[in-house]
Amino acid sequence: MLEGKTAVITGASRGIGKAIALKMAQNGANVAIIYAGNEAAAKTVCTQAESYGVKAAAYRCDAASFSEVKTTCDKIIADFKSVDILVNNAGIVKDNLLLMMREGDFDSVIAVNLKGAFNFAKHLSRPIMRSSAGRIINISSVSGMMGVTGQANYSASKAGLIGLTKTLAKEFAGKKVTCNAVAPGFIETDMTAGLSQAAREYADTAIPLKRLGAADEVANTVVFLASDLSSYITGEVIKVDGGLYM
Ligand code: NAI
Repeated sequence: MLEGKTAVITGASRGIGKAIALKMAQNGANVAIIYAGNEAAAKTVCTQAESYGVKAAAYRCDAASFSEVKTTCDKIIADFKSVDILVNNAGIVKDNLLLMMREGDFDSVIAVNLKGAFNFAKHLSRPIMRSSAGRIINISSVSGMMGVTGQANYSASKAGLIGLTKTLAKEFAGKKVTCNAVAPGFIETDMTAGLSQAAREYADTAIPLKRLGAADEVANTVVFLASDLSSYITGEVIKVDGGLYM
């Protein structure tokens, strides 16, 4: 489905990003794996991706740093020659009630989750515009659509990503580049591994499908949006949440 395309996936050494990278590779895309610190995990993802017969390479980069992202994107363009798909997946949580939230915890979540997406879109926009079917996919969250107690920073960053998505969809439409967001609900990853028993019980009652989602189920939607199957969809937000928010 993605043969001959090159995809850049941020935060791809584990969790949802890893699932996206591997599913893209399985569908024929070359993959550039962006990771924050765990080189061994990123290399393992590359080896797994290569087993599908595609090219894969890992790049250590802090998504929040404009200059580091530029240097990394320049390297990726030199290594892969073209980039067709960008998946802004890197994200962090630093939850607390507003009354207790520290300024630094607001700033760092916005810097990684929202500015990180701006940084990669900015530095990869030229090769993506040159692609015959460019795609930008931002991993938002239902938290950005419904608001969640204790997530003022995270919800704001994920709502911001939806605004960024719609704006890029309009700005790049003339170049046949689509830009969409995926909004997962509760997905089983390291990010949700620390959920309290109470939060899990809430999820069980609040989610109509009565279970947490799997990273692969998010990856399926991202691959659809990256493929020609979604050629007439842009500026959209697709929830992958078992019906949590409707
Ligand atoms: P995770 O914590 O397992 O993975 C996040 C990835 O982002 C990690 O690989 C991490 O190294 C990377 N990362 C963090 N800071 C970075 C930085 N400054 N520069 C580069 N990479 C950085 O989390 P998970 O669950 O796989 O989440 C992936 C995305 O999905 C995130 O954007 C998250 O907000 C979003 N999401 C997750 C949900 C869930 O229930 N797990 C629900 C809704 C959205």
